[in-house]
Amino acid sequence: MTTAPADLARLRERRWPPTPTTSQTHAVEMAMYSRVWTSGRYTQAAEEALQEVTGAPHAVAFQSCTAAIHATLLAHGAYQIMPLHTPAFGFAGTLTGAAHIGMRLLYHDVDPDTGNSVDPAPSPYALVLTPDLHGVPHALPRRSVITDACQSLGTLVDGRHVGARGTSCWSFSATKLVSAPDGGAVTTDDEALARVLRQLRDYGAEPGEHRANALITRPGHNWRPSELSMAMVADQLTDTFPAHAARARDVGARVRETLADVGLWHQRVPAGTHPAFHKIRTGLPGESRARQKALRELLENAGVPTHDWGTVPLPTHPTFHAHRGDEPHVPAAATLAASTFCLGTELCPPWTWTDEETDLVCTILEMIMESL
Ligand SMILES: Cc1ncc(COP(=O)(O)O)c(C=O)c1O
Repeated sequence: MTTAPADLARLRERRWPPTPTTSQTHAVEMAMYSRVWTSGRYTQAAEEALQEVTGAPHAVAFQSCTAAIHATLLAHGAYQIMPLHTPAFGFAGTLTGAAHIGMRLLYHDVDPDTGNSVDPAPSPYALVLTPDLHGVPHALPRRSVITDACQSLGTLVDGRHVGARGTSCWSFSATKLVSAPDGGAVTTDDEALARVLRQLRDYGAEPGEHRANALITRPGHNWRPSELSMAMVADQLTDTFPAHAARARDVGARVRETLADVGLWHQRVPAGTHPAFHKIRTGLPGESRARQKALRELLENAGVPTHDWGTVPLPTHPTFHAHRGDEPHVPAAATLAASTFCLGTELCPPWTWTDEETDLVCTILEMIMESL
């Protein structure tokens, strides 16, 4: 198996973000002609659409998820040296806000079967910030932690959207299921928190028709999203998102089943949970480097592209290292970082694969694991 089958050559194409639909182009044009660049009806429409999709009672839109997380930490009273519990495996953007605030990062090892947080128990003196890795929900109590839900838009738990409870931060960046020239949001069931978030994104001014220095009652930022981006977000959430999310759930489930059958690492998913897989991670953790390398080479040679994500556990990252004296012991995070990778590319993610392409990928996985 040295040359790529013709049908899989297309998995190296650029398919994401998708070509804008007519309805989306129209929405952006309307936003432009409105000559309202921020805090207008498209921001409101995106927030309402996100409430509808997630079932959360409040949504506050931001310029990015990085900004949304930063604001959420501040709205929870984060201050310099306040302890923040967070998993050692993930993306730097989760911690950008915490690093700016100067929080004390307390890393925890992850569940070796999911890559998600397993602890700690929330405490009144510290905050907990944790992602739903690749769309698989973390198992911590959702009302007691801040969830970086950048990768779990579209994930269902017992028929409800994963964002229905607690406080979750979302991203609408280029690689996400809802994709605009950046954008983010927080959903929450805490009305008071939503009010503070609205203030923080707008210089710290009390929400209202007008903005003036006199209305600023706490230090905030300019984190308001562009109306053009929000026009795209609102349109996608109501138009194309349900089909893309269903596809991410279906393709993810199909490939995960094959990974399980052939004995490859895959994220464990609790019963009743249907992740809209943002990435499909696999590999041979704990096995020899030679076998790990051979697996990746065989996949690439057979035409299945792969990519890296999270190759450095966050505590060893120079910008996000643990505070001195708190060096964590995180063997599961280190193993996942060193020996797992993701199928497909960010420009042609698995939810864009056709049924035929998905079947071919699964067949190749079976053949490779028979011969390895
Ligand atoms: C897990 C996670 N956290 C945070 C971010 C940052 O999101 P944004 O690019 O919207 O700031 C991303 C985006 O890639 C992400 O995947």
